[in-house]
Amino acid sequence: MRTRVGIIGAGPAGLLLSQLLRQAGIDNVVLEDRTRAHVEHRQRAGVLEQNTVDVLRACGAGERMDRRGLRHDGIELRFHGEGHRIDFPSRTGGRSVMVYAQTEVVKDLIALSERDGGTILFEAEAKAVEGADTDSPLIRYVHEGEVKTLECDFVAACDGFHGIGRRTIPPGVLRTWEREYPFAWLGILADVPPSCDELVYAHHERGFALHSMRSPQVSRLYLQVAPDENLDAWPDERIWAELDTRLARGGWTLEHGPITERAVTPMRSFVAEPLRHGRLFLAGDAAHIVPPTGAKGLNLAAADVTLLAAAIIRWHDKSDETLLDAYSQTALRRVWRAEHFSYFMTTLLHRDPHQDAYGYRLQLAHLDYVASSDAAAASLAENYVGLPVV
Ligand code: APR
Ligand code: PHB
Repeated sequence: MRTRVGIIGAGPAGLLLSQLLRQAGIDNVVLEDRTRAHVEHRQRAGVLEQNTVDVLRACGAGERMDRRGLRHDGIELRFHGEGHRIDFPSRTGGRSVMVYAQTEVVKDLIALSERDGGTILFEAEAKAVEGADTDSPLIRYVHEGEVKTLECDFVAACDGFHGIGRRTIPPGVLRTWEREYPFAWLGILADVPPSCDELVYAHHERGFALHSMRSPQVSRLYLQVAPDENLDAWPDERIWAELDTRLARGGWTLEHGPITERAVTPMRSFVAEPLRHGRLFLAGDAAHIVPPTGAKGLNLAAADVTLLAAAIIRWHDKSDETLLDAYSQTALRRVWRAEHFSYFMTTLLHRDPHQDAYGYRLQLAHLDYVASSDAAAASLAENYVGLPVV
């Protein structure tokens, strides 16, 4: 098989890239290792930056998001048992975020591809990228029990942290930076209306907690736990009791309900550089990971492929490679900003098991600063709603 752009991975990065290219008349094929049902049902993040909302609308994938998504104009930082609201529009020239699950974004993009005659092969595992340093790279993949070849002009590795794309770049060329955190998140979905209108990020001496949501009927909540935490040690009553304690605020109660899903997610920061090797490009989790505290993972993936699509379209329409040459540097500048913001939110709000009493007081001092200084709140707000994609 031959196509212009061979895309590995049907996560948000691969699907959005495919849609942006198809819209510009550029033929592409998406290869996805897992089944469609698996890809459409895994629980991931849920906050879309203004940039992400804009690109989803522009590519025709915004209709359900605009009906079902919840526009949020702020978040609450909760510490010392008190809430402090950070307003976004007043500090960011009118920008806000949309609470809409990543899994719904994925469903919308797959439906759009299906409607427009796009090609996504599910249960098609990419095994190798060959000829990345030539003008005609190819992907070897296994589909329906056979080894097949996808020849293309470009390969986009949107295959997540464990994919094969990044590993194709020779070790002497690729550099990586990494940090692991001494904690993880225990996340639940519960069939109960959210107990708040906006997300609550809580700092507590027993550890971080987050109250998020998926819809007016479904709450999403997280607890900081140990990286090797055993889920069996967390029956429903223990989860709710711990959330009650960490989210406590005078005159406020957390509504409990049936827990429909639970999982422990480790936390990591990671960046690979460069994002290009010849005609192979990395985007999304294949290139970088952030801890979820800043809600940046999905948004970084969307920003990467917005830049990459523009670069490929310029090459296709004008035989101009300037944007392709600039892709790695342009994307990484934004990535590193988001890496810092995600690290900042994570270290500000979590209880590090090695932290001393002094470190704990520094966190409270900084939280107090963000809650009382317009300049500090504006910095948090502009990063949270997302810096421009240029
Ligand atoms: N062949 C084909 N598909 C593959 C291969 C392979 N060898 N390896 C991985 N994949 C697929 C995975 O099954 C997955 O569906 O690539 C996809 C990568 O998708 P994501 O992990 O969702 O990554 P990405 O699209 O970059 O999305 C960014 O933001 O909220 C965060 O981590 C969260 O998924 C999220 C990410
Ligand atoms: C979520 O709703 O899943 C969510 C929200 C905010 C975050 C992380 C995850 O910072």
